[in-house]
Amino acid sequence: MTALTSPYLWYSARATGIVSLVLLTVTIVLGTLVATRVGGNAVGRFELNEVHRSISMISIAFIAFHVVVTVIDSFVPIGVLSVVVPFTSRYQRLPVAIGTIALDLMLAVWISSVFKERIKHSSWRFIHWLSWLCFVSAAVHGFLSGTDAHRMWSELVTVGCITLVAASVVWRISMRPERAAGRTAHSPLSSGRASRPDAASSRVGTKDSNANRSSSRRPLTPEPAPPRAAQRERRP
Ligand code: HEM
Repeated sequence: MTALTSPYLWYSARATGIVSLVLLTVTIVLGTLVATRVGGNAVGRFELNEVHRSISMISIAFIAFHVVVTVIDSFVPIGVLSVVVPFTSRYQRLPVAIGTIALDLMLAVWISSVFKERIKHSSWRFIHWLSWLCFVSAAVHGFLSGTDAHRMWSELVTVGCITLVAASVVWRISMRPERAAGRTAHSPLSSGRASRPDAASSRVGTKDSNANRSSSRRPLTPEPAPPRAAQRERRP
């Protein structure tokens, strides 16, 4: 097989790796803003979700480019199998394996979103939670394997990304857990039954959800208590 190597492939691998991490960060932050309905009615949730989806697609394109470039550069022995099967690379076995795990998690999140209409909403939601793990793996992978990882500018970018994602986690958990959990069936954030509607009612826009919407909502005002006299009459 012809050896294909060039410094430009190496530069491309490094550049696309960093850009991928930044885009992954932006995708996750936007996803958190969508999930927590930030801005209420002032910010269009549909538009925000569209931006979230578009940037996630651009992020996938950059990651694909990053992986293709590292595989075709024969200077480092990384085979096609190493793209999806962890611990099969002869070059930097552990750091590359962590990158492979990040990619596998990202593919799981993406494929589940493509087939969102065909799978249970709770399953889709659970798989979507893996994006946090995907980010952690990608950040560790970049830090361990990157040529630029220990340069000041690269460390600043990585720390910036980690700070933004950590802030998103804190926002998701502490600021509006009730509201967020109420929309996410089986979300790890949902603590009480009141904030956990059944799976069918959380499928927004479906026939089931429309039918169940009124029943799953808590009444705005509490039902009036029966008069004291009536309560007394009912006692044995
Ligand atoms: C979600 C998926 C991935 C992301 C976000 C990602 C991101 C990154 C980042 C940020 C770097 C550091 C670049 C630098 O500072 O020089 C990097 C380096 C690297 N990545 Fe990935 N990566 C991913 C998946 C993969 C996979 C699946 C492979 C291989 C099969 C891979 C192979 C490499 C290699 C070989 C380097 C070292 C490049 C160098 O010499 O600097 N990555 N990656």
